[in-house]
Amino acid sequence: MQSQATYNYGVVRQFAVMTVIWGVVGMLVGVIIAAQLIWPELSVVEWLSYGRLRPLHTNAVIFAFGGCSLFATSYYCVQRTSHTPLFAPALASFTFWGWQLVIVLAALSLPLGLTSGKEYAELEWPIDLLIAVVWVSYAVVFFGTIFRRRTPHIYVANWFFGGFILTVAILHIVNSCEIPATLFKSYSCYAGVQDAMVQWWYGHNAVGFFLTAGFLGMMYYFVPKQAGRPVYSYRLSVVHFWALIFTYMWAGPHHLHYTALPDWTQSIGMIFSLILLAPSWGGMINGIMTLSGAWHKLRDDPILKFMITSLSFYGMSTFEGPMMSIKTVNALSHYTDWTVGHVHSGALGWVAMIAIGCTYYMLPRIFGKNEMHSVKLINLHFWVATIGVVLYIASMWIAGVMQGLMWRATNADGTLTYSFVESVKATYPFWTIRLVGGLLFLVGMLIMTYNMFKTIAGGKAVNAPVLEPAHA
Ligand code: HEM
Ligand code: HEM
Repeated sequence: MQSQATYNYGVVRQFAVMTVIWGVVGMLVGVIIAAQLIWPELSVVEWLSYGRLRPLHTNAVIFAFGGCSLFATSYYCVQRTSHTPLFAPALASFTFWGWQLVIVLAALSLPLGLTSGKEYAELEWPIDLLIAVVWVSYAVVFFGTIFRRRTPHIYVANWFFGGFILTVAILHIVNSCEIPATLFKSYSCYAGVQDAMVQWWYGHNAVGFFLTAGFLGMMYYFVPKQAGRPVYSYRLSVVHFWALIFTYMWAGPHHLHYTALPDWTQSIGMIFSLILLAPSWGGMINGIMTLSGAWHKLRDDPILKFMITSLSFYGMSTFEGPMMSIKTVNALSHYTDWTVGHVHSGALGWVAMIAIGCTYYMLPRIFGKNEMHSVKLINLHFWVATIGVVLYIASMWIAGVMQGLMWRATNADGTLTYSFVESVKATYPFWTIRLVGGLLFLVGMLIMTYNMFKTIAGGKAVNAPVLEPAHA
């Protein structure tokens, strides 16, 4: 009997728990590199040096923390909205173990200095192959579940998750095209400026699809659920989807302003980045307005606070990004800490906060509890994290503008007013404030870890029964 079947929460549980664990690990490495910028002598051995730990940080937070939360939420959402258990459960389980293997191999190879040198695609070719296999399996599980759905239409969150899965597969396979020289070294198939162009087509869409479209999928499922309200405008959500995925594809060249890339290509990147403001804000407004008629819930629901605050940061970073893509603004911001501030207003404010909110939503449900062990601790986490993000991004903005202005300042005779090292010295106070902000965010994650394990200890693994679709 269909009604006695249960959803496959096993793999959701695995990914949800690892989201929190990898979040702690990745952010701890972030705190370490933030400290190394202030005290370079902390780079005690070469495999713990800044240059090796920095890619470890980005890979851990984006692919381990972000990746696990995307797997967990998409698997949870797709089966519930399709009213059917996950397709190919053994393959789903393979995606969990395969993805953890990728993470462990990254954690070993990056400190050893094995890297292809492409930002956010540093892993060497054997790991790239493993990623491709895991990702295609993910696509089979996800789309297999969609094909088996018992509802006439595909809920919009699944469009975002599906778009993200397909695009990341294409981005990864095209950008990782490389010729192996040895087991641990390969060379890109592309050369010179083409290589840069392909890399930043990948890089920007890694932001657009891995760090945005997938997380918007979370927004469209979990915000209405937590608020107990339908999506503000379903029509807007469909326009949002098509406009966003079409526009993101063309914006990559804004990472290559004033380089050997042909000027017209840079201008196209800038124009599409400016256009991107519209679908981004359309989506943010759709998410926030979902609270219409339920604003009072924000007062005492810390999970909703995480979600709505994340949307505000999403709005901020997608306003800032288009501004930074204007060539004359980029002339000031590029190479400075302004970029790092922008990155973390998106990464901590938007990505981490929505992921945290959705994980808090799922944990009690997949571990047979009515709510988390302590709602007070969720509230504490919220405030510690919010103060942490604000300290992080405000200090980086000020530092970035200061650096940009110092580097371009000239005397009447045309010589530079400041030496580079003077700008480094002037940045120390801001790096210290960033370290405090990062530490606070990490403390929040530790509070979450404690709360999660207490919830698990007091609960048990449950798989909810598959619900009959309302209009099947
Ligand atoms: C406790 C939290 C965190 C701390 C303390 C932290 C710290 C740092 C530091 C010090 C850097 C290097 C900046 C530089 O090169 O000058 C960095 C880079 C980066 N971090 Fe984080 N981070 C944190 C969380 C996150 C999260 C959650 C994400 C993503 C979801 C993230 C994504 C990135 C990215 C993409 C870069 C590279 C930026 C660029 O190349 O411009 N970080 N982080
Ligand atoms: C409308 C949306 C956005 C636009 C147009 C945009 C634009 C930009 C621009 C112009 C840069 C600076 C490039 C440079 O000078 O090197 C940048 C850097 C970056 N942005 Fe955004 N941004 C947007 C949203 C976001 C969001 C939501 C996130 C994170 C979730 C994000 C993550 C990043 C990262 C990681 C970098 C640093 C890349 C690197 O150099 O390593 N962006 N973005």
